[in-house]
Amino acid sequence: VNHLLGIKYLTKEDIDLIFETADQFKEVINRPIKKVPSLRDITIANLFFENSTRTKLSFELAEKRLSADVINFSASQSSVKKGETLIDTVNNILSMKVDMVVMRHPNPGAGVFLSKHVNASIVNAGDGAHEHPTQALLDSYSIREKLGTVKGKKVVIVGDILHSRVALSNIYALQLQGAEVMVCGPQTLLPKYIKDLGVKVETNLKKALEWCDVANMLRVQNERMDISFFPSTREYTQQFGVNKELLDSLNKEIVIMHPGPINRGVEITSDVADSKQAIILNQVENGVAVRMAVIYLLASKIKQ
Ligand code: CP
Repeated sequence: VNHLLGIKYLTKEDIDLIFETADQFKEVINRPIKKVPSLRDITIANLFFENSTRTKLSFELAEKRLSADVINFSASQSSVKKGETLIDTVNNILSMKVDMVVMRHPNPGAGVFLSKHVNASIVNAGDGAHEHPTQALLDSYSIREKLGTVKGKKVVIVGDILHSRVALSNIYALQLQGAEVMVCGPQTLLPKYIKDLGVKVETNLKKALEWCDVANMLRVQNERMDISFFPSTREYTQQFGVNKELLDSLNKEIVIMHPGPINRGVEITSDVADSKQAIILNQVENGVAVRMAVIYLLASKIKQ
């Protein structure tokens, strides 16, 4: 495979290889000189058609720490605004001798579409409500780092499952590695096909937290939903927000994750987000090593 379009297309062996490679890069980026010369002959374009803080900067750092040449493209400042198509845009960029495209796009399937129409390695950095594969990889990598293994762990994904690319990619990644997966959220924010994915479903947050080893808290994606969606923000926080009091009422300490950006006080309170139980910034730190591994492994196929 010359692309990373979704976790759906990976095997357990692919994930193991990515994590073993990421272990080596994590050691590299903790050295005083955080770079390796591996990809001096590779040029990568980062195409962001949707806003991003973590993913965009993490990919750029990962590429620079591998010594690749990097160009950044933001749709809002480009000729996309003049009506240029996605394929024309990317083919123009590729004619400047670019080898790999990292793309975030609001449309589900945009990465798959692009991979069929252009001659470059495509990395999906989030496509609408479909998949966010590198987020799921860094999430599993962070669970493995914190708990020693993903296999056999109980992970609940809490919140707006319906609009979440992070949820779908995490479900695929966790199941491939032998974790038990539960989703917890309001009925209106659970997709109708959720049971077909082989996950447990719970609408009572306390019961979900009592069951799990790890809770991955998602943001309610207001930008992807109609105003009439139930519940309101206040009702959502009352029923599905995690706070310190709720965590203290459990008879164990669970690991708290969040892909970011956080809506503090909505899905998670600050005293939880900033607590020792939370590994939110470790996730961000691990994202660079995991993305270095993904890019390095794909680039090694370009060079063959
Ligand atoms: N987790 C994540 O994708 O964050 P950004 O939208 O800031 O990239």
